[in-house]
Amino acid sequence: MTATARKSRRVLVVGATGRLGVAIAESLADRGDEVVLTARDPNKLEQMSASLARESTGSRPAPFVCADLTHRDAVERIVEGLRAAIPISADGTRGSIDDIVLACGPFPRTPFDELRREDLERTITVHCVAPLLLVHALAGDLAKARGAVVALGDAGTTRPFEHHVAYLTAKGAIKTGLRALAVELAPDVRVNIVELGIVADPEADADPLRQHRLATRSQLGRFGTPAEVVHVVTALLDATWATGETWGIGR
Ligand SMILES: NC(=O)c1ccc[n+]([C@@H]2O[C@H](COP(=O)([O-])OP(=O)(O)OC[C@H]3O[C@@H](n4cnc5c(N)ncnc54)[C@H](OP(=O)(O)O)[C@@H]3O)[C@@H](O)[C@H]2O)c1
Repeated sequence: MTATARKSRRVLVVGATGRLGVAIAESLADRGDEVVLTARDPNKLEQMSASLARESTGSRPAPFVCADLTHRDAVERIVEGLRAAIPISADGTRGSIDDIVLACGPFPRTPFDELRREDLERTITVHCVAPLLLVHALAGDLAKARGAVVALGDAGTTRPFEHHVAYLTAKGAIKTGLRALAVELAPDVRVNIVELGIVADPEADADPLRQHRLATRSQLGRFGTPAEVVHVVTALLDATWATGETWGIGR
């Protein structure tokens, strides 16, 4: 039996300059997908875009759009930006997206005694309101491409940890929102979540005792690697018979 060549997909990576976003975008480009990037910092985006030029895209830098997801017009900016940044395809379609990976947002520490309304509003906006509205705005593109959304969730939503009430609330909200979108968008668009434990960060993991304490919370007793996250993200992008699912790793 001869294997059929996999058709390249155009994937929007949100939070594309983050530790996991970079690993995801690189892996998608390596397998021949066309990656479109969004994040806040234009310098990081420009660098990342140039580094993703691959043979499969004629060595063109990856299109990118700068947007701050806390801004009310972020979704419009991203949609308009990607329509303008992506070359018109052979069938005359302008800047259409096939799949989305949501890997965005900060990890703000919000000590309980100092928790403020703004912390909750800001974090819920970046991690939940803007990503949900973005998927909503691109639902037509995704449906036309029989596309997929894969979001990075956090294991802390089922086993919370201290000093992160705003972050964990936001991650819980996006999880529920995406499961609702899976219902709204079925059967044309699949929406799945990777719910991860802690990925090793050589810069942040300087304290071996803290590292040991945190790592042993997970059954496998260690932090994960970006490659292990990428593996599950791409598997869910390709999982044509799965929607509304949460795949837990490193929990
Ligand atoms: N790393 C982990 O151990 C871990 C564990 C569980 C879940 N997760 C989840 O995995 C995802 C990625 O994590 P990561 O470690 O790769 O994060 P990261 O390195 O901090 O990267 C975050 C990304 O989000 C972007 N971003 C942050 N604030 C933004 C804003 N206001 N508007 C637009 N973009 C914004 C950043 O772009 P700029 O630099 O331009 O701001 C960057 O591209 C997150 O959703 C996180 O909750 C991570």
